[in-house]
Amino acid sequence: MAAASASDVTNVVSGQQPGLSHVAIIMDGNGRWAKARGLPRAAGHERGVEALRRTVEAAGEIGIRYLTVFSFSTENWRRPAAEVNALFGLLKAYVQRDLARLTREGVRIRIIGQREGLPADVAALVDKAERTTADNSKFFLTIAFNYGGREEIARAARRMALAVEAGELKPDEIDETRLGHFLDTDMLPDPDLLIRTSGEYRLSNFLLWQCAYAELVFMDVLWPDFDRASLEEALAKYQERERRFGAVSPGAY
Ligand code: FPP
Repeated sequence: MAAASASDVTNVVSGQQPGLSHVAIIMDGNGRWAKARGLPRAAGHERGVEALRRTVEAAGEIGIRYLTVFSFSTENWRRPAAEVNALFGLLKAYVQRDLARLTREGVRIRIIGQREGLPADVAALVDKAERTTADNSKFFLTIAFNYGGREEIARAARRMALAVEAGELKPDEIDETRLGHFLDTDMLPDPDLLIRTSGEYRLSNFLLWQCAYAELVFMDVLWPDFDRASLEEALAKYQERERRFGAVSPGAY
């Protein structure tokens, strides 16, 4: 299959296909990658961070502006404490090690999900990453951490109810656009493309509202092995799709 390149993305943006600016990824398969090598699961997550670094770099080079990745779901608390702690540790290490470089490179970092419940040191680092990169606008890296799509929508509904109670919002004013402003992803465009690795065919509660019209690409590659070629393969699949957003194809009548 022909690999997509920077110019292909430009074609997507300028051609018939509505532009591709936002890619979301469910980074799945770290555990299986580690198991296949007789390594602890945490080793798979560590290699997963390297795959994330590669992907951020490749996405920026290719011309994608928004990348949103699923790092820790509200359901992942069910995993053994050691694995949960390893994932917290990796987020901290990623921010500590990469923040200065990402800031220099114009990356704006946002962490979406429930902030309450995060250990204080993780929450503090996440706040620092968001503050430090708040003025950047070249590339938007959003990390879903302690995130669940239904929880995000329920939290938005609660905040809207409070706004109504406070007289700041009228029930009649609540529509899709307004609700979108109460979500963690306010200010991000909806994903054009959602990639899930490791051969699973589920959304797993990721960006449920936002992916209403995303093209879904499922790949067999395990996340630690994901690289630029994998991203280009997904982009090539995206280009083959016809996005109709509920309308009919030109020439259907
Ligand atoms: C799913 O694989 C992956 C996760 C639950 C965590 C994803 C995290 C990373 C890629 C690294 C962390 C990155 C940051 C920035 C903190 P799985 O463990 O469910 O794999 P399996 O399905 O093969 O068991």
